Amino acid sequence: MQDQPKFFGRRKGRTIRKAKSFLLDNFLPEIRLSADKEINPEKIFGKKDKYCLEIGFGDGEHLAALSQKFPQNGYIGVEVYKNGVANLLSLITGLKEGNEEDLSAEIKILDTRVDNLRIFDDDVRLLFKALPSGCFDKIYLLFPDPWPKTRHAERRFVNPENLAELARLLKKNGILQIATDHPIYKRWTLEQMRYNKDFRWTAKTFDDWRKPPADWFETKYQRKAIREGRRPVFFEYERL
Ligand SMILES: C[S@@+](CC[C@H](N)C(=O)[O-])C[C@H]1O[C@@H](n2cnc3c(N)ncnc32)[C@H](O)[C@@H]1O
Repeated sequence: MQDQPKFFGRRKGRTIRKAKSFLLDNFLPEIRLSADKEINPEKIFGKKDKYCLEIGFGDGEHLAALSQKFPQNGYIGVEVYKNGVANLLSLITGLKEGNEEDLSAEIKILDTRVDNLRIFDDDVRLLFKALPSGCFDKIYLLFPDPWPKTRHAERRFVNPENLAELARLLKKNGILQIATDHPIYKRWTLEQMRYNKDFRWTAKTFDDWRKPPADWFETKYQRKAIREGRRPVFFEYERL
């Protein structure tokens, strides 16, 4: 068995109320992935235009919006934070707190969506071993925890070991999209990527990294950053 990697973030926050607990117990198992056997996105979703991974989807707004807007793609979302997973389930089924009378009904994804989303609700590093090489066209890492103190630098997700895995998982010319609002993480990411031989920064002008790419959906952390006066950046790297 693989050693459990050390995880330093939060796995659970406030008490999860009735409707969301119900979704975790009754709907999550239908779209949850297990890392015990190989996970091949092409086999899970069938033939799709693109296969994408979002790491640390938080409250899931970006992933819910993206998977709805692009039914022709298949999406795998990963998040350890239970409350965030529950929120994503609420977004894709439409079941909200207060709709207690719906809890006895069969829960399905909204009619406006297709079945193109799967969830791994644990540390993404445990998922890596189950995924075949070159299986994704795009990987999103949006506002990773910055761990700004120098003594916590080794907790930052952008590091040589994780980048080697992301490079393995991306197809040639696939895209790694990293967004961050933290000045230390901006510098850190640029430094980590500068000498990485697997990736090429695609930006040609300032706007290419200072403005969100087309088809962007704001995340909770992005809104928080803007509210608090920090400026998010959007780094796009191409797999060589
Ligand atoms: C700062 S939050 C950003 C959430 C979301 N992307 C957003 O922009 O609103 C970082 C998220 O990454 C998740 N996370 C951190 N490390 C992770 C890991 N190794 N595997 C899965 N999720 C992880 C955390 O639980 C947290 O929800």
